[in-house]
Amino acid sequence: MSQQAASSLDQLKSQAAQAFEKAQNPQDLYQAKVQFLGKAGAITDVMKLMASLPKEEKPSFGKKVNEVKQFLEDLYSQREAFLTEKEIQAKMENEKLDLTLPGSGAFSGSLHPVQRVTDEIVQILARLGYSLRTGPLIEKDYYNFEALNIPPDHPARDMQDTFFVDQTHVLRTHTSPIQIHSLENEELPLRILGTGGVFRCDSDISHLPHFHQIEALCVDEKISMADLKGTISFFVREFFGPGLKTRFRPSFFPFTEPSAEVDCSCPVCKGKGCSLCKHTGWIEIGGSGLVNPKVFEHAKIEYPKWQGFAFGFGIERMAIIKYGIEDIRLLPENDLRFLRQFT
Ligand code: PHE
Repeated sequence: MSQQAASSLDQLKSQAAQAFEKAQNPQDLYQAKVQFLGKAGAITDVMKLMASLPKEEKPSFGKKVNEVKQFLEDLYSQREAFLTEKEIQAKMENEKLDLTLPGSGAFSGSLHPVQRVTDEIVQILARLGYSLRTGPLIEKDYYNFEALNIPPDHPARDMQDTFFVDQTHVLRTHTSPIQIHSLENEELPLRILGTGGVFRCDSDISHLPHFHQIEALCVDEKISMADLKGTISFFVREFFGPGLKTRFRPSFFPFTEPSAEVDCSCPVCKGKGCSLCKHTGWIEIGGSGLVNPKVFEHAKIEYPKWQGFAFGFGIERMAIIKYGIEDIRLLPENDLRFLRQFT
């Protein structure tokens, strides 16, 4: 075998072995492998010398090349296994799990205070036999006004600044149209709760253009103001806590007669006087009254065989009073810092 070919092969062998040894990670090691054993690598170059060797030297040179190749392949495999293992060990060292660290805690959502108050009111009145109804947000003028004894041009329409959708449709200004749908479609006697969003052109610290109401309607034989007062007083005690008083002030709604505004003693100061109740000791929570016979007439219900009462509350208002929220506008803003206080 030509001395020159043999010695360059030995040289390559030791260079490659050194390069493998020098590599400190599997990526560098692979680069070294490509450099020596790859298709365009140094060993391939040496093999090209074969062509220039005398015929009788070719077999022994070929054998030697193969031995060197095999040696380097083995060396590579060993070194690769070693470096891979080393890398895993280092990774495990660095990424050690510290079980003593405090947990980050799972975040769980919660019901919006408006939904919570709604659920609570429904639960309390369900115990008296009331069940839930909803209705469309866009109502015919007839259901929002006329059937509730608010005829066109009636001054009561000024009480609620209305969003008109077109000549005959409005965004409902209260949940009272739900009463009419039930009176038209359901069997008597009746105990229903209508709830959902309502809309008015109104916006300040205590008014929202879009808010929620819940109202009760009871229709039965022989219903009186005593039934209305008993039901509302029971509700107020259950909702705000025992010891709170209710007060009824004469008022006017076209769909109830007589009508009364409902106040309860301030749940914050218990009637002593504070900023929430403007130092009166009382807070207004809603409207109420006995169903006006005109409403029965529209719904083709026989009066006085059937009589009824109704009362309605603003849900945001109930939430503000119950949780001592200072600005009603916090409720629809949906700032998580505010909402998380109710989880
Ligand atoms: N619908 C009335 C309002 O929005 C409230 C109310 C409901 C009054 C039921 C009496 C009876 O102001």
